[in-house]
Amino acid sequence: MKSLIGFLSSLVLIASAISPASSSSAADKLIECIANNNINPSSFQTIFNPESSLFSLLLQSRVQNLRYINSTTKPLLILTPSDDTQIQSAVLCSREQGIEIRARCGGHDYEGISYLSDKPYIVIDLFNLNEVQVDVKEEMAWVQSGAQLGELYYAIARQSTHLAFPAGLCPTVGVGGHFGGGGFGTLVRKYGLAADNVIDAYLMDARGRILNRKAMGEEVFWAIRGGGAGSFGIVLSWKVKLVRVPQKLTYFTVTKTLEEGANKLIHQWQRFAHDVHEDLFVRILLLNVGGGDDKKKKTVQANFQALFLGTKERVIPLMNKSFPELGLKAENCTEGTWADSVLNFAGFKPGVPPEVLLDKTQMFKAKFKAKTDFVTEPVLESAFEGIWKMMLEEDVPIVILEPLGGKMNKIPESYTPFPHRKGHLYNIQYLVKWDKNGKEEEERHLEWMKRLYDYMEPHVSKSPRAAYLNYRDLDIGMNSAGGKTSFSEASVWGQRYFRDNFKRLTEVKGMFDPENFFRNEQSIPLLHM
Ligand code: FDA
Repeated sequence: MKSLIGFLSSLVLIASAISPASSSSAADKLIECIANNNINPSSFQTIFNPESSLFSLLLQSRVQNLRYINSTTKPLLILTPSDDTQIQSAVLCSREQGIEIRARCGGHDYEGISYLSDKPYIVIDLFNLNEVQVDVKEEMAWVQSGAQLGELYYAIARQSTHLAFPAGLCPTVGVGGHFGGGGFGTLVRKYGLAADNVIDAYLMDARGRILNRKAMGEEVFWAIRGGGAGSFGIVLSWKVKLVRVPQKLTYFTVTKTLEEGANKLIHQWQRFAHDVHEDLFVRILLLNVGGGDDKKKKTVQANFQALFLGTKERVIPLMNKSFPELGLKAENCTEGTWADSVLNFAGFKPGVPPEVLLDKTQMFKAKFKAKTDFVTEPVLESAFEGIWKMMLEEDVPIVILEPLGGKMNKIPESYTPFPHRKGHLYNIQYLVKWDKNGKEEEERHLEWMKRLYDYMEPHVSKSPRAAYLNYRDLDIGMNSAGGKTSFSEASVWGQRYFRDNFKRLTEVKGMFDPENFFRNEQSIPLLHM
């Protein structure tokens, strides 16, 4: 299968040098500077200005949230570097000329922060830097930031049936953004977050230096693993610890509509999912089904999707003991390798070749808005009824409940910047998608999301109401446009993502990027008291 990005990469290599004379003056100066700085003249072939015929295609191909596909703010240039020196010249020249940088890997940022800015800026899209080197003997891998999760998973699975990596479910999510913001998936209860399993990294700082863990120091290394790496520099590659999984795992999905008792089951799930053996991960994906042309009545369907690190002979008794109400049967279960489970959770049909994990065409592209919560006390059964009522008012709402507990309870809150660990039962993600264009349409869905979020307030974590950076939400607060944000202003959103780790992040920022070169709407701010 030839993916769009694969196609673009080949074009990039043969694209003719752009003509500086045809671009805007800020871009001209930047190109000139990059050319003067760079020892490799072929790097011009990886720079695109808005007049290049590939510019829009390149910009849009990695826009996951279609709300931003026709945004009026456009970068001065898009760079698609094929080596570190090109990134280095871009960083040095942008800094010299007061131009902002947006690093983009998978382009899945919920608010489009990797490719939008209202200041003059360039996008450095790292998709050409996607190498993965797996060392089975040492049980570790080096992965370049421009790889997507699917490429990492594929590379591991090709070399081993007993090694895996604990990260997110969607194969086109980029390693760069995902590891830098935390990263959780089906192995979270057994092994924690992706960021918890990073053991080294190469980071480029604002002076263009490439620093490994030792050279950047433990504080910076701590910050880039979940604190939003983009606040500190551009991570070029990550060394990760692989984790052990059995050769045969079991996965299943059991679906129940409201009429089939979903409400009660979800309520019961809250007590079981975070507390059960850490080899078992059961999440709930809630969707609307029926209605419209479908003859069946519109209702909410709960999909209990699970991964168990063992055989079905083990998981069925475990489920029947700890969550008998779900009524799991052998016919619901499929056994396979970890790679099979990855394909299953990514929504592929059984039997597809694992090479689909290499396809860079983003699978879930849509206009959407999302928000997130963490739950520390079981939500009342009656409160869930309010969610169903609201879901039925929308066309394509999605609510996902993902269990924590297990290993997450054992990792201290300050181990990485992601603090929502012991005492947190599960994460909720609310998402609404739509197709139609237009401001009114958008506002209708945003208003719905706001109502749902307000409705949930009494039922979720408090003081502060927690949020997850990788499900970025600019509604909870942003840096001020002038670039000077006080600690107390930024704490409004910073503590929601990071709790007490936020202060430490601001200290690392002040020490490592004192000019605040790496900044965006929700980057860790410099302290201005
Ligand atoms: P993108 O390229 O948009 O970057 C996101 C942010 O990171 C931007 O601020 C960007 O500048 C910065 N950045 C990117 N590369 C960088 C680098 N090399 N160095 C420094 N900064 C860099 N999450 C999860 O935990 N579990 C899951 O299962 C999923 N599933 C999922 C599915 C779908 C369809 C979407 C859209 C999103 C998810 N996510 C998720 C959320 C995902 O983890 C989050 O959006 C990541 O930030 C995406 O990383 P990308 O590299 O794709 O984004």
